[in-house]
Parts: sequence; structure tokens; C-alpha cells
Amino acid sequence: MVSRDTLTQSSEETIQQGREIGARLKPPVLVLLSGELGAGKTTLTKGIVSGLGAAREDDVTSPTFTLVHRYAGAARVYHVDLYRIGDFHDLETLGLEDVFSEHAVVIVEWPERFTLRTDWPVVRIHLSHISENARRIAVSDESGVLSLR
Ligand SMILES: Nc1ncnc2c1ncn2[C@@H]1O[C@H](COP(=O)(O)OP(=O)(O)OP(=O)(O)O)[C@@H](O)[C@H]1O
Ligand SMILES: [Mg+2]
Repeated sequence: MVSRDTLTQSSEETIQQGREIGARLKPPVLVLLSGELGAGKTTLTKGIVSGLGAAREDDVTSPTFTLVHRYAGAARVYHVDLYRIGDFHDLETLGLEDVFSEHAVVIVEWPERFTLRTDWPVVRIHLSHISENARRIAVSDESGVLSLR
């Protein structure tokens, strides 16, 4: 497993990290973003989606009420926040099985809430709150899709 740790000092730096990650992602891939409330998962997603060429970062917002956001530019990207999903039935109504049959990038916030079944390569990213404006971003690329080294 290859992993990489980065410290960012602002949300702009986190977005830039996301852009670099997004530029390396090749669909199909599942990106799991863990970390506490306000750790920067949605902020990082802005960069990932922008780096993939799927949308501009300003158009990427938290999928809080609509639960799944879909962006389709150079790549097809789904962004899901499982924090708002109450139970397994709610999860099923999202139709993620259909998403996993597409050639897409699926980005999931709060992945520890439910186990998503897929045989896609997985990239795990954990964000930690260091101080008001500092975050640690730990990327673990088990399947080597990012070619970090
Ligand atoms: N270095 C940094 N990286 C990312 N965000 C930062 C940083 N410094 C400050 N912030 C601020 O922290 C907040 C991160 O919010 P964000 O919505 O990205 O978190 P989240 O992990 O998605 O939270 P939630 O679990 O509620 O969805 C934003 O207000 C952002 O401006
Ligand atoms: Mg969020």
C-alpha cells in the first residue's frame, strides 16, 4: 500500500491538493473521504472534481439535501454524503448500484457509516483537523490507481 501525508494551511491549499489527486484519478474508482465534521472533505472534493475536469470548484457543494451530486464533464463524477443517510433503506433509494455499473468516479463522505460493495479500486483519504486553518490529508492508495510512487 502506498500512502502520502500532506499538511495544508488553508482551504485553497486543500483544494489544490484535491486538484492534483483528481488529475491522477482514472475511472472507475471509489474515493472514500473520512474525517470529522469540518475536516475539509467537501473542500477537498471541490479540487478533486475540478482536477478531473468534471465541474468548476465553485459548482461543487455539499450533497446535504440532495444526497448525491452528479458532475459530468471530462469524467462522470458522483459525490455522496452518507452522514445524512438514516438507514439501509435510504441508502438503497440512492441507486448507488446503478452508479457502480458506470465508468465513473464516486466520492463518498462519511464512508464508515455504510459499507459500499464494489470491486472497483479504492482510494482512502483521511482528513484531520490540526488547527483552525491547518489540515492533515492522509492518502492511502491501496490499489495503486494514483501511482503515487
Ligand atoms: N486547510 C484547510 N483545508 C480545508 N478546509 C479548511 C482549511 N482551513 C480552514 N478550512 C475551513 O474548514 C471548513 C471545512 O468544511 P468542509 O465542508 O470542507 O468539511 P467537511 O469535512 O466536508 O464537513 P462535513 O462532515 O460537515 O461534511 C471550511 O469552512 C473551510 O473553509
Ligand atoms: Mg462535507
